[in-house]
Amino acid sequence: MPGQRIVCGVFLYKALRLPLTMNSQSKATARANIALIKYWGKADSSMNIPAAGSISITLDALCSETVVSFKESLSADELSLDGESRPEYVPRISRFLDILRERADIKTRASVTSKNNFPLGAGLASSASGFAALAAAASAALRLEISPRELSIVARQGSGSAARSVFGGFVEMHADRSRDGEGSFAEPLLESSAWHLEVVIALTDRSEKAVGSRQGMNRSAATSPYYVAWLDASAKDLERGRDAILNRDFKALADVAQSNCLKMHSVAMTTQPALMYWNGATVECIRAIQKLQQDGVPVFFTIDAGPQVKAVCESSALQHVASTLRAVLGVKEVILSGLGAGVEWG
Ligand code: DP6
Repeated sequence: MPGQRIVCGVFLYKALRLPLTMNSQSKATARANIALIKYWGKADSSMNIPAAGSISITLDALCSETVVSFKESLSADELSLDGESRPEYVPRISRFLDILRERADIKTRASVTSKNNFPLGAGLASSASGFAALAAAASAALRLEISPRELSIVARQGSGSAARSVFGGFVEMHADRSRDGEGSFAEPLLESSAWHLEVVIALTDRSEKAVGSRQGMNRSAATSPYYVAWLDASAKDLERGRDAILNRDFKALADVAQSNCLKMHSVAMTTQPALMYWNGATVECIRAIQKLQQDGVPVFFTIDAGPQVKAVCESSALQHVASTLRAVLGVKEVILSGLGAGVEWG
């Protein structure tokens, strides 16, 4: 099979274990990703193990920058998100930091300051970039010796999609067969420079979605009559998606990504109560992209748990796709992005 696996070994921490108490700070940046073969359902909620694998592309334009400061003076963890204190998210952040504190054998509380350059909770993968950046910054601040794969396993426990944002380009997330979580990690499939794809994000609503992915997928597993069929189809879609990427076969990737997206939303829509992530403009964007496809333009759509439409296209089609989506009634803004890198420190 053409294509190659990229071995990513650039960020392995080697440092001395810190003493049991500490004051230490680190900063990391991670980018959002969009799933082409989607994760929608868990095998284990306590360790956040996905029920099936997934494939994504990491986006250059959407990022989270996070500073973590462990301070002996703090009696509780604290969080500032885009300049505002957000105590409602602290319990989830604390549980996540506990995983790393346990590894480092410390109890010190942390102050987390995170900035995103895109709207939160609107289906643009803020939890993916957020937890990947948090995992990277916190493990660096704790001077943990942690491989990229382990970092991905840690990030997964914050948010499943965050495991993929540890890496750049085309990324595959594995479902866990051993059920202890160690086999459920992401790894690079193809470097971004190996296949120049572009993404046009059509923003149709900037507000936070009513039902988040976590709650939504758990509800789908419990109530959608199509959930089991969705999981059955995932294995085949993953194989088709992986092959299409390794072969740089745009048409094959378009076919499987669109079909997988519509299957996920069919499961969402048949959940009780129904999860209708789309609005009218979402549907109009799909129609506009279908029209472009009929005219021979190399583009396809995908939509995560929100109303925004992501059009993935070959570089030659970027301006045409962007102007087409900008003109769709109800589209508030389009964001253009190439494929981006994995987590970065400093
Ligand atoms: C539709 O990763 O946000 O974007 O693991 O519960 O935090 P949790 O879920 P999350 O779900 C992402 C769902 C999706 C598809 C995908 O990114 O694969």
